[in-house]
Amino acid sequence: MIRTIELCRRFHVGDTWVHALDHVDLEIAPGDFVAVMGPSGSGKSTLMNILGCLDTPDEGRYQLLDQEVAQLDDDRLSQIRNSHIGFVFQSFHLLPRMTALENVLMPLRYNNSVEASDRQRGVDLMDRLGLSDRMDHRPNQLSGGQRQRVAIARSLINQPPLLLADEPTGNLDSRTSEEIMELFEELNGGGQTILMVTHEEEIAAHASRVIRMRDGKIEHDSKTRH
Ligand SMILES: Nc1ncnc2c1ncn2[C@@H]1O[C@H](COP(=O)(O)OP(=O)(O)OP(=O)(O)O)[C@@H](O)[C@H]1O
Ligand SMILES: [Mg+2]
Repeated sequence: MIRTIELCRRFHVGDTWVHALDHVDLEIAPGDFVAVMGPSGSGKSTLMNILGCLDTPDEGRYQLLDQEVAQLDDDRLSQIRNSHIGFVFQSFHLLPRMTALENVLMPLRYNNSVEASDRQRGVDLMDRLGLSDRMDHRPNQLSGGQRQRVAIARSLINQPPLLLADEPTGNLDSRTSEEIMELFEELNGGGQTILMVTHEEEIAAHASRVIRMRDGKIEHDSKTRH
């Protein structure tokens, strides 16, 4: 599903360069459930942003579903992002004035209209995520775990082959975090490919593969050791 070859991303800060990603080679197969760990500043979010087509590398190659995406322009990147990638963030990123269902349907609104079948898909997805009685609530009327489930439903509305999550449980208590991880396991059981960043070993334990980063490099990948 994903292959990166010598992926590099550097930032000019003051008069030095920060090598946020330093020649990263990574392969993710369909159906993988991967946890990305590593100290603060090791490049995890930078990697996720490039894999999610929110950012582009300075050097190296990125192939997503056999397409070379490293050199595409912004329009093509946003098309790929919309059709192939669901993104979940630590801080949910829901729109406060919209209901939960409207938030879930957001990625479908190209021309201000949502087809009935798409709307039904949103309702079904929310049912599946245990939100059937919260469709008309606004984000500030929901608990943290419910907000994150709304964000997950929104990320899945376009049925993306790849789900990326940057510290999805970072703002949740441990019990709610476990619930979200059970949900991820269930989605992965249904074939969903998932890549998530976490600082917590208990969260990473839900994944089937753990990648550890340090100083912009992959220091350890459990797939290549077992
Ligand atoms: N836009 C930017 N401009 C300058 N430096 C940046 C930028 N984005 C990231 N960096 C630097 O790149 C390095 C990697 O950052 P990144 O956000 O990927 O780390 P991270 O592993 O996600 O850390 P955390 O666990 O704290 O979220 C850091 O040293 C950071 O300061
Ligand atoms: Mg980060």
